[in-house]
Amino acid sequence: MRIIPIASGKGGVGKSLIAANLAIALAEANRRVVLGDLDLGGSNLHLILGVRSPGRGLGSVLTSGKHKFDEAVVETEYPGLRFISGDGEIPGLANVTANQKRSLIHKLTHLDTDYLVLDLGAGTNYNTLDFFLTARHGMVVTTPTPTATVNAYLFLKNVLFRAITARLPRKSSGNSYINSLRKDGEALKRIYLPNLLEKLQEVDPEHYPECAHAVRSLQPRLILNLLEDPKDAEKANKLRRSCREYLGLELEHTGVIYRDDLQDVALSARLPIIRYKPQSVLAQAVYRIADKLVQLESDEEDDVVEGGDLDQTFQEAALEAEADFSAKLGYVEDLLHSGALSTGDLVETIKMQQIEINQLKKENNLIKSKLVRAIQQGFVE
Ligand SMILES: Nc1ncnc2c1ncn2[C@@H]1O[C@H](COP(=O)(O)OP(=O)(O)OP(=O)(O)O)[C@@H](O)[C@H]1O
Ligand SMILES: [Mg+2]
Repeated sequence: MRIIPIASGKGGVGKSLIAANLAIALAEANRRVVLGDLDLGGSNLHLILGVRSPGRGLGSVLTSGKHKFDEAVVETEYPGLRFISGDGEIPGLANVTANQKRSLIHKLTHLDTDYLVLDLGAGTNYNTLDFFLTARHGMVVTTPTPTATVNAYLFLKNVLFRAITARLPRKSSGNSYINSLRKDGEALKRIYLPNLLEKLQEVDPEHYPECAHAVRSLQPRLILNLLEDPKDAEKANKLRRSCREYLGLELEHTGVIYRDDLQDVALSARLPIIRYKPQSVLAQAVYRIADKLVQLESDEEDDVVEGGDLDQTFQEAALEAEADFSAKLGYVEDLLHSGALSTGDLVETIKMQQIEINQLKKENNLIKSKLVRAIQQGFVE
């Protein structure tokens, strides 16, 4: 079974949207897929999947001894796709106990399926990190905005830290060392992960090999979502460099996805975009990611891609960003030619754009004048 946990540092970057549509795309490729909503405390995957009443989900399983885990795994209208809904609005589920979490992970990872796609909550709580660490190639979603990419980096830093600490028994000298670091928040913040491993080799040679192996075998996959422009694709390289330099972690790029206004329409029609408009730029981008995953099936799950092959994934993504942008423009052109966009729509769009341009001009002037003042006061070279 291949596990695809989908996570992010920042919320609202498209994890659930990608999880639902990717699961359908994999099922359409004749794979047996289970899609699980593990965003405990914030479950909404059923809405994106278009399931009106999600029934007994993990909420019932975790809060009542009566309901078995298997009952929570239900068939969907998509052949080959089964679904496990989340908390069903039962409060407090974000805080499952360590035992509940262990048992849940055990049951999930023993399902009889080809793919297990897990939609996770945003951020770095231990549950999320542990669900993410059920796979060596977990999927990290980010948007090109600086807050999202910084949070993606911080998420990965937390993942690595968790991968290391999970391998240190409570009474080990490695664990004592980590606890001593924890006492000084600053030391923990500044910690350079490759140095931490070296230090562990010194203080806890018994457990070091396992920690080092855990780190070496992790190779998260990246999805850059909500692009507006091909230039946004460069943000992936920046994130890649930070991960490499400061975490000693290599990322693989799985693809880019543009913002697609049709998604809002699909959502209000209660349909996943892949079903609502399979030809849309968004649905096509998801199919492309599913194709890549299917291609990767021949590799062993343990394999870590190296060097040139990784570079290639980033180059490919940059090309996709160019191609999808043309496709997006082509789509607008088609709408124009087909008469689907009326002259009135065009006038309205131009008006809105004019307002946005004016707002940007104002902001730009304000920042410029601040800069000029700063230069005059000698704050900037
Ligand atoms: N490529 C896209 N084009 C258009 N809309 C998008 C795209 N990706 C995500 N969205 C929209 O952005 C919003 C957030 O997406 P989603 O709920 O999937 O994010 P999330 O990461 O799961 O959020 P959370 O952290 O709250 O669980 C939704 O309204 C979704 O429809
Ligand atoms: Mg979500």
